[in-house]
Amino acid sequence: MTLTERTMAGFRAAFGSEPDGVAFAPGRVNLIGEHVDYNDGLVLPLPISTGTAVAWSRCDGSEVEAVALDFGKERDRFLARSAKPHQPADWRSYLRGMAQGMDAQGVKLAIVGSNPRGAGLSSSASLCIALGRAMAAAGQVDPTHRELALMAQIAEHEWAGVHCGIMDQMAIAAGEPGHALLLDCRNLETRQVALPEDWAVIIVQSGVTRGLVEGHYNARRRDCELAAQALGITSLRDADEDMIRAANLDPVIAARALHVVSEIARTAEAVSAIEAHDLAAMGTLLRASHASLRDQFEVSVPAVDELVDLANAAIGPQGGARMTGGGFGGAIVAVLAADAAPRFIATLEQQFAQPRRAALNPMIEGKGRHLAGIEL
Ligand code: GLA
Repeated sequence: MTLTERTMAGFRAAFGSEPDGVAFAPGRVNLIGEHVDYNDGLVLPLPISTGTAVAWSRCDGSEVEAVALDFGKERDRFLARSAKPHQPADWRSYLRGMAQGMDAQGVKLAIVGSNPRGAGLSSSASLCIALGRAMAAAGQVDPTHRELALMAQIAEHEWAGVHCGIMDQMAIAAGEPGHALLLDCRNLETRQVALPEDWAVIIVQSGVTRGLVEGHYNARRRDCELAAQALGITSLRDADEDMIRAANLDPVIAARALHVVSEIARTAEAVSAIEAHDLAAMGTLLRASHASLRDQFEVSVPAVDELVDLANAAIGPQGGARMTGGGFGGAIVAVLAADAAPRFIATLEQQFAQPRRAALNPMIEGKGRHLAGIEL
């Protein structure tokens, strides 16, 4: 059964009626530009083939009623205007936040997701944008990508307590299949960067899952704010390496800031590497990004480092791999020649997954993999 069929069947079983429609939003993987979105930086994510589907129907009255088919058919029912965050934060927090943002009323929703959770692939932003699209269709309104993304970011900040940037929401709302989205987080300007036909983007699970709310994420964000404050600038987008080295900052804060300025530069260079069809240059940037996230930003974990090292050894000079997403576990992303993909996956199966009895659940994304062409 496709994701759409599963969602429709779940809606019928939960509410005893036919849905009016099904909305979808993908997950995202970030190619490069990690932990720079909340520093007004440049990021380069792309939408992936898994996502969240929400079957919806308009109904009389002003109540929002929802069922999460992946969470033991848990239900929620409320008036959008008077909704309060669910404690502890869970899918209901996102639902209530989006419903209030959209001023939703009189709607039934059934939710199913295929994104791996805790993998750094933005299952929560995918949930928010899919909910927003379903409520928009039900309420016959047409928010822009930017409006939807900002609403989803508010749901994350104020309803789930995660002080995330805007990358995930914009990537999911505005990303196009087969393209990476160059997003300038300072002004939300976007550019679609076509991925070469013969490159594969492969996502591989480390088996270590993480939770953003655990505080590490918000702590890194605070470190960056402290650095900007000490440098007398509004965001690290305006910093450079010389300025940071000259400022006599606390060494940990300086390391965080050095990651940010070098990662923003790498993101711009990655766009040039993609446009020049230069896998070797792209690989060098991915490796440098990982080293900086591991050593300066300190958001990796040993299992992910080991997987990245094995992946880079398996790929060789034509491409590279790094951790992706917020960190502290989750998936890695690799960019390599599409025809090298089967051997790459087989090598990681043998060297990483089998000894640990873990599942890599490899996902192959990229130009050849059009979301529109995928059976949902
Ligand atoms: C999480 C956040 C994003 C971004 C990344 C790190 O995915 O939601 O806003 O900060 O971490 O790049």
